[in-house]
Amino acid sequence: MASALLAADSTQASAPVAHVNNPTSAPEASAPQASATIPAENNPVVLRIDNIRKSYGDLEVLKGISFDIHQHEVVALLGPSGSGKSTLMRCVNLLEQVNDGQIWLGDTDITDPAIKQDDIRARIGVVFQQFNLFPHMNVLNNVTLAARKVHHWDKNRANERAMELLERIGMGARAKAFPDQLSGGQQQRVAICRALMTNPELLLLDEITSALDPMLVGEVLDMVRELKEQGTTILMATHEMSFAHDAADRVVLLRKGVIAENGTPEEVMDNSQDPQTREFFSHLRG
Ligand SMILES: Nc1ncnc2c1ncn2[C@@H]1O[C@H](COP(=O)(O)OP(=O)(O)OP(=O)(O)O)[C@@H](O)[C@H]1O
Ligand SMILES: [Mg+2]
Repeated sequence: MASALLAADSTQASAPVAHVNNPTSAPEASAPQASATIPAENNPVVLRIDNIRKSYGDLEVLKGISFDIHQHEVVALLGPSGSGKSTLMRCVNLLEQVNDGQIWLGDTDITDPAIKQDDIRARIGVVFQQFNLFPHMNVLNNVTLAARKVHHWDKNRANERAMELLERIGMGARAKAFPDQLSGGQQQRVAICRALMTNPELLLLDEITSALDPMLVGEVLDMVRELKEQGTTILMATHEMSFAHDAADRVVLLRKGVIAENGTPEEVMDNSQDPQTREFFSHLRG
């Protein structure tokens, strides 16, 4: 087992936890929807999604979504194709602007138009399904690019942090390799390293295994499990139901733009009384 992938960068003054707010500092109107069964419920709120709405033209994709993610929680965002999982992730990463509602990262309202987006992006790591690495750049340059160009780290600091992360996943020797010389699984693991560069408070993983050869899915999921063991706070959209059941502390099920379920994997995936939810997870029960 590799050592802490998300351990504080030695050149940074503070570990990620220092940025996390006390939930009481968020507005009263958005009280946490805590459930007694959530193990991390007493931890500070890292991400608070408060009644967000998002439309594309006439199509309202997110119709008032609210939930919290607490520090060290792994939350699986599930739902049929087109239910709005990626849209929600893109709103959190500020790639899309919400039409209504607020998103809080720690005590920062990141939907405030005056926010410095690059500062927020340094606090959120993101990995998408595919096209994560630039094909014309080697692994080291891919991993360090945003830290150097967007967050203005000097080259030595960025290279040191990148090599530390790559060594931990056994890819230090491949730092000079180009993406097309790596397997899809290795590329995704490198993309996860890149997302961890700035010690983010939250990691967003959007279907990171769905473009992979089935043989390569396991190594990427193992890395996510390892991050979970190290206490990383993760929101992951996935169609890997068994993995979600196994690895998530909590499952949020989207259906037609609203939250159909929000609970533990056992509550939502095994024991829901809602016929549509039962149908959605029916293959899990055999
Ligand atoms: N940029 C866009 N412009 C217009 N419509 C969009 C845009 N992005 C997404 N949509 C629509 O929003 C809806 C939700 O899409 P989204 O990609 O969020 O779904 P998803 O739950 O991530 O699906 P999947 O499981 O297939 O990844 C879909 O109807 C999609 O066509
Ligand atoms: Mg999607």
